[in-house]
Amino acid sequence: MKLNLPEELDFIRAGRLPQKTTNERLDGKVCIITGATSGVGYEAAKELALAGASIVTINRNKEKSERLSIEIEKISGLKPKYFIADFSDLIQVRIATEEILHDYQKIDVLINNAGVHMTTRQLTKEGHEMAFCVNHLAPFLITSMLLKRMVESAPSRIIQINSEGHRFNGLDINDLIWENRRYKGIKGYGASKTAQLMTVWELHELLQNKGVSIIAMHPGAVKSNIGTNNGKLYNLYSKYLIQPLLKEAKISGEAIYYLAASKEMEGISGKFYNLTNEEIPAKHARDRELGKKIFQISKKLTNLDKEDVYEV
Ligand SMILES: NC(=O)c1ccc[n+]([C@@H]2O[C@H](COP(=O)([O-])OP(=O)(O)OC[C@H]3O[C@@H](n4cnc5c(N)ncnc54)[C@H](OP(=O)(O)O)[C@@H]3O)[C@@H](O)[C@H]2O)c1
Repeated sequence: MKLNLPEELDFIRAGRLPQKTTNERLDGKVCIITGATSGVGYEAAKELALAGASIVTINRNKEKSERLSIEIEKISGLKPKYFIADFSDLIQVRIATEEILHDYQKIDVLINNAGVHMTTRQLTKEGHEMAFCVNHLAPFLITSMLLKRMVESAPSRIIQINSEGHRFNGLDINDLIWENRRYKGIKGYGASKTAQLMTVWELHELLQNKGVSIIAMHPGAVKSNIGTNNGKLYNLYSKYLIQPLLKEAKISGEAIYYLAASKEMEGISGKFYNLTNEEIPAKHARDRELGKKIFQISKKLTNLDKEDVYEV
């Protein structure tokens, strides 16, 4: 039955569609995935490795990263290289990205996946709101620093693991650290994902005719460790009330593989996907005037405003 829903509810239509698949090989392709030690990123790393990709991960935990690399080597024969950075510390993120630039002359796919959901307001040591820093500023910094290398490696693809949670909004460019508002977890998450989504429209424009595509995707509502940093009560609530309603994160991994590898997605850029199906994002996230402002602010907050990373 065809649904005629208002565009705000387009996620219901997109969420009901069958998923697209591919069996395209990725042999010889370098795929960077952030936050691959659990959930969505872990499943994506496995799918891409099984298709032959050389996996490179950026995670915060060395032991988990080593375990992941050994596991992936067992299933694919190729041992992923990992770089360590806590995304709440932009200096660590910058150092890890510089190391990647040093080690990899070609980058075919970048998947910005690492993310958090905070139920309380926390500031990073550099003074950013935690979710905004981990979900938006850190991937903004990585992507910006890798742009030239990705243009040199064209055709290449950037995938932002975003969320339907961008619909909660919460983005106020005059109060990014929630000094003048009461912090609400879903609004803080919504602010970070809105900013991350707005980056897609700006970079899509910048990368026109450069052979680099950039898209964002919602990876489904799936079982993962997200939110488990929020204490015992939240974990109980999540375990008994939320997790039973969720799907297995394998569907996210399969969808990311489709977006990263399929012929159909070649050259497709500047769009938002619900798993493998295109969807209309929330109206506030399509406000290009605000998007340009948040882009400039993000450049300043990541100390990129005096660098030439966008001259691609
Ligand atoms: N699960 C869902 O239903 C859902 C829905 C919509 C969007 N998403 C998005 O999907 C992405 C992956 O989330 P997930 O659900 O798979 O959650 P997850 O299981 O908690 O995985 C998050 C990943 O990000 C890493 N990470 C968290 N904080 C970090 C930090 N400060 N520095 C570096 N890495 C950090 C985690 O590392 P550790 O293993 O060390 O904790 C882990 O590898 C996120 O961007 C999330 O917003 C998920």
